[in-house]
Amino acid sequence: MEPSNILFEKRGFGQTSRQDLWWVRPGLIFLALSSFIVYATWAAFQGEHYAYGAYLSPFYSPEIFGSSPHSWFGPKPGWWPLFLPFSPALLILWAPGGMRFTCYYYRGAYYKSFWADPPSCAVSEPRKKYWGENSFPLIMQNIHRYFLYLAILFVFILAYDAWKALWFIDPVSGNETFGLGVGSLVLATNAVLLGGYTFGCHSFRHLVGGFKNQLSKSPIKKTAYNCASCLNRRHMNWAWFSLFWVAFSDFYVRMCSMGIFMDWRIF
Ligand code: FES
Repeated sequence: MEPSNILFEKRGFGQTSRQDLWWVRPGLIFLALSSFIVYATWAAFQGEHYAYGAYLSPFYSPEIFGSSPHSWFGPKPGWWPLFLPFSPALLILWAPGGMRFTCYYYRGAYYKSFWADPPSCAVSEPRKKYWGENSFPLIMQNIHRYFLYLAILFVFILAYDAWKALWFIDPVSGNETFGLGVGSLVLATNAVLLGGYTFGCHSFRHLVGGFKNQLSKSPIKKTAYNCASCLNRRHMNWAWFSLFWVAFSDFYVRMCSMGIFMDWRIF
């Protein structure tokens, strides 16, 4: 009998010898991820109040089609299905959503908190056998490395948005002037956090040098690998901070656009 099955024979689902409050962590993760999913879905379907002057909500960037001045190719295309409400966010959010859904850290977190499989470390799970991610549908999680390529593109796009958020239209002359608003800082922080999350990805670390047998023979790859490893050690923190901040960035731009927040210009 395999050692892992000895445990399943002795214990039923949710049983454990742990004395600590092991259920608190998966419970909090369930609440946090559920709140994010509800807010992000609501915001993505709004289709309005996603831009304010130089600011563009990261949920809507890049705005491939849309009605704001940030749109790349103009307004809603004629081929958009009538039965589907139009929102520029629906065209792009699948990419960062896929990146997070297949992320190694989030997988470990939501397998525990949403599927209770297992509910926590050393707590019995509902199944008798360990299947791993070797068969359908979980083998699809291997697509993560491809979402990484898209996520890298998004980091550069959001960094460019942060740069654009420093250029304001002068109400008198109508010219663009350099400045700094609270919204500029919000969007810049978002780009930095997203970069920290993306460049600390396990797949990125492999991409920049993890596939080599002797890394020391390639100094550039070794430096890149060390940098990615440094971010990777705090990947969970980057994951949570960037998740919270991307939602907050959308909220901030939305509140400014609705006239509820006043964007404070620092200079
Ligand atoms: Fe988390 Fe790749 S492992 S983003």
